[in-house]
Amino acid sequence: MREDGLTIVSHELRNSLQSLCLNLHQLRAMIVDEPAASKIDRALRTAARLINIADDLRDAEHLSQGMFRMSFKYETVEAILADVVETIAPAAHERRITVSVDIHCDLFATVYCDAARICQALTNLLANAVKFSRPDSNVILAIARQHHDLLFSVRDSGPGIAPDDLPHIFDKYWRARDSRGSGLGLFITKRIVEAHRGTLLVDSVVGQGSTFSFALPAAQLAGVEASQGGSP
Ligand SMILES: Nc1ncnc2c1ncn2[C@@H]1O[C@H](COP(=O)(O)OP(=O)(O)OP(=O)(O)O)[C@@H](O)[C@H]1O
Ligand SMILES: [Mg+2]
Repeated sequence: MREDGLTIVSHELRNSLQSLCLNLHQLRAMIVDEPAASKIDRALRTAARLINIADDLRDAEHLSQGMFRMSFKYETVEAILADVVETIAPAAHERRITVSVDIHCDLFATVYCDAARICQALTNLLANAVKFSRPDSNVILAIARQHHDLLFSVRDSGPGIAPDDLPHIFDKYWRARDSRGSGLGLFITKRIVEAHRGTLLVDSVVGQGSTFSFALPAAQLAGVEASQGGSP
């Protein structure tokens, strides 16, 4: 399939899935019977996962074609984090994983970034941490001031990544043999971080867990200037 064909398919897939979700939501509102309601909830979660896959396919193709759009503004740490924990909550709940947020910086510190894309990157890292960790374990999202940068990191105490696999984990469609997923999350995340002139780092020990991290320069601006955007 040609790359632009894949972009069209992912777009059509997304539209159809959104219409399916809409109908399922309407059906859910009419159902009071508990077993039927929980089956619809499960179908909704599956549809949401499929929409994510369609979005990842589109993003990966846009990245390959140099068409990945970003919109940079000065954003506060608070705005960047606003959706992240909420987005990951259902998956974490399903796997009985606690996601702790550890903040060692001013919540109103500003970063010149595309907040939605940084949110997408953090959500991808958290989704992996949740997916690969044992149930009842803890995942930590930390943000810390490091000189003039803000360091974002996601730590899990999951199985870790074999040293032979580490050079491949950021490749498009790569995943370990026994993994479930499309192998697109880290490919997209690395590109998002690099578009912010950062580097996505991984530190992993088999049997102990993994930490993914990246740093973004903190802006030194007054609040009014910061909300108006511009060059870094
Ligand atoms: N926190 C982690 N712990 C253990 N292995 C990991 C972790 N994060 C990534 N990996 C390994 O790296 C592979 C690539 O990750 P990536 O997020 O790109 O793909 P995926 O999670 O398999 O699929 P997708 O993110 O597209 O749903 C994973 O399949 C897994 O083998
Ligand atoms: Mg993933």
